[in-house]
Amino acid sequence: MSIDNSQAALLQPLTLGDLELANRVVMAPMTRNRADNDGVPTQVMTDYYADRAEAGLIIAEGTWPSVTGQAYCRQPGIETEAQITAWRKITDAVHDRGGKIVLQIMHAGRIGSSKIKPEGVESVAPSALQAQGEVYTDAAGMQPFDMPRALSTEEVQAVVEEHRQAAKNAQQAGFDGVELHCTSGYLPMQFLCSNTNQRTDQYGGDAAGRARFAFECLQAMAEEIGAGRVGLRINPGNRFNDTKDEDPAASHIELLRQAASLELAFLHVMRAPTRKIDAFAMAREHFKGSLILNDNFEPDTAGDAVEAGQGEAVSFARHFIGNPDLVRRIRQGIALSGFDRDTLYTAGAAGYSDYSQG
Ligand SMILES: Cc1cc2nc3c(=O)[nH]c(=O)nc-3n(C[C@H](O)[C@H](O)[C@H](O)COP(=O)(O)O)c2cc1C
Repeated sequence: MSIDNSQAALLQPLTLGDLELANRVVMAPMTRNRADNDGVPTQVMTDYYADRAEAGLIIAEGTWPSVTGQAYCRQPGIETEAQITAWRKITDAVHDRGGKIVLQIMHAGRIGSSKIKPEGVESVAPSALQAQGEVYTDAAGMQPFDMPRALSTEEVQAVVEEHRQAAKNAQQAGFDGVELHCTSGYLPMQFLCSNTNQRTDQYGGDAAGRARFAFECLQAMAEEIGAGRVGLRINPGNRFNDTKDEDPAASHIELLRQAASLELAFLHVMRAPTRKIDAFAMAREHFKGSLILNDNFEPDTAGDAVEAGQGEAVSFARHFIGNPDLVRRIRQGIALSGFDRDTLYTAGAAGYSDYSQG
């Protein structure tokens, strides 16, 4: 089978800030819960990422900057020496195969449970408002999200510094850069959304105040490793994990307005869950750098989007689960395989690093 011209557009090289990509097929971040109980990456993670190194860029899974920000069992961190050393094996393996890899920094804020975090580590948030919903724990099955403690102004600034340190640690671990996770109801979204942020200091109030936390995290990370190695992920209108903003378009436009001064490497933008917001057009208008588009793309629609100039690259998540060689399959026009949902978050190699090349 031969590929059409639009899919060929995906195979062209691309520069994103300081990152030189061999192609425009990006692997989107996916939490797979394969680290150990201390958040230290494991050998199966090295195998998994190495097998996917042909992606133009891998954005590695949501990873906590400090254990306060851990959401899930066996979710990796980038805080301790052991974590940094183990990530180094992964970045070396990807680089040895000619790939590029950045780390998604994800502070979960109120999304978490004391039954997951080490004893005495509490969940924190912009305001003391508990999220509706539950999270799986290895220790006690499904548990309600913690009632979070509201951060003081000084503590917010300390969490910004944790993001700076996380970027530094990621660089030490050999990553080519970092991406701030600003979607899905985690801490930056808890600041940005009006229903989760009732603060009266400079981190609350109007959209400018609510966007300040994410902006300051980006600024700190850019100061630490260079803006050409820092990206931002957004999904305007996403209500996952009980966030609801009075005007998601306006809040995101304000965040992009603040971020414009930084000249970030890329904006990773997902389609809005409701079609009321055209997130790709909004991103184009309010972000002057390169766009990575996401969600529900197939190789042909992704190629069409790049060819039409909607974005410079497209990220795939689920297709990378069962197709470690997704780029080769696109190049050679080989049909894509599915994957097993039951092993998405289980420990070990099964349904993770054992999908074969097609
Ligand atoms: C198993 C799984 C884990 C995910 N974990 C993350 C994550 O850690 N960070 C994130 O920003 N998005 C995460 N996502 C969302 C994906 O990055 C992506 O946006 C979504 O799957 C849609 O893209 P797709 O249609 O190509 O699968 C996850 C998705 C899946 C399926």
